[in-house]
Amino acid sequence: MLNIFTAIYHAYLAQAAIVAVKLGVFEHLKDGPKSLDQICADTDAHPTPLRHILKVLCTYEFLEEKEECYHLTKSSVQLMRAENSFIPDYLLYAGEQILPAFAHLEGAARTGESAFVLAHGKSLWELCRNDRAQGKIFEDHMNSATRWHAAFVAKALDCSGVKTLVDIGGGHASLVSAVLKRNPHLSAVMLDQPHLADRATERLRAEGLLGRCEFVGGDFFRAVPPDADLYTIKHVLHDWKDEEVARILTNIRAAMRPDSRLVIVEGVMDTGDKDPDWMGARNLEQFVTTGGYQRTRREFSALLEAAGLRLDRIQSTPIGDCSLIHAAPR
Ligand SMILES: C[S@@+](CC[C@H](N)C(=O)[O-])C[C@H]1O[C@@H](n2cnc3c(N)ncnc32)[C@H](O)[C@@H]1O
Repeated sequence: MLNIFTAIYHAYLAQAAIVAVKLGVFEHLKDGPKSLDQICADTDAHPTPLRHILKVLCTYEFLEEKEECYHLTKSSVQLMRAENSFIPDYLLYAGEQILPAFAHLEGAARTGESAFVLAHGKSLWELCRNDRAQGKIFEDHMNSATRWHAAFVAKALDCSGVKTLVDIGGGHASLVSAVLKRNPHLSAVMLDQPHLADRATERLRAEGLLGRCEFVGGDFFRAVPPDADLYTIKHVLHDWKDEEVARILTNIRAAMRPDSRLVIVEGVMDTGDKDPDWMGARNLEQFVTTGGYQRTRREFSALLEAAGLRLDRIQSTPIGDCSLIHAAPR
């Protein structure tokens, strides 16, 4: 049983970690321990609040204070930028967009309005389109997370017999890049909003994949590129309410041939085993940020059936939030 004080104290710790990451505290300690004054000089921070912020990080062993200097610890690594690290970008997204929305959870609970809209004045997608600095924060988070996910998903995804792939809502092409690299016989199209064209194309060019993957700027509520052998849609459906998911799936079904396959990649709730302890929180985060939610097998199955598709099987991967939900036309 979790002591509720512990939960509240962890919320303070999270805020302290976000501020330390934003200030670049951990990066400044890379070359060796430093005093509070040195860290303040490096990060342009005020010593009194910073001392208390560093204190809570020391309490939870994200830093260590010895001989009036702050040292990195084994846990500091989580909060430092490195290839394949996704936590700093997630913390920046949490600090800028998720936690301000959580501050409006009561308003949302009382009125049914979106906590995100109450906090930011617009939906996540409108915010990303209209304020490119905020858009970049969300997209950097998605990119870093998907770079980590993509290796596991690409390994689990069986592409034998598949020549053409469409990745729907593919972001900056992180998943499609990993799948194309693992399957040299494949060519792909990725669909996302037009304002992502430059970053996605830049990514494909950097990976040497531009000749094998076309970016299509569009709207999955209107249409999805037709005739692919395999359709993938990762971490998109949990962003939307049931009626919106129904429209996306109907458009995918309309684009599919009778022998095409669909693989939805996201977490599945209530798999029969006890949900991992992060799942309820993850579900609430999804609801607060987008109004969507993490679905059960039964919920996926009903939505797929209504769109003329059949849920064939659910394949787990080492990442709990990335199950492969295999479907095909009925
Ligand atoms: C949570 S992100 C997932 C990105 C990517 N699949 C991944 O896992 O990294 C959701 C994606 O859906 C895209 N999206 C949102 N609304 C869309 C629309 N109406 N049509 C096409 N893409 C859309 C966003 O731009 C974003 O890239």
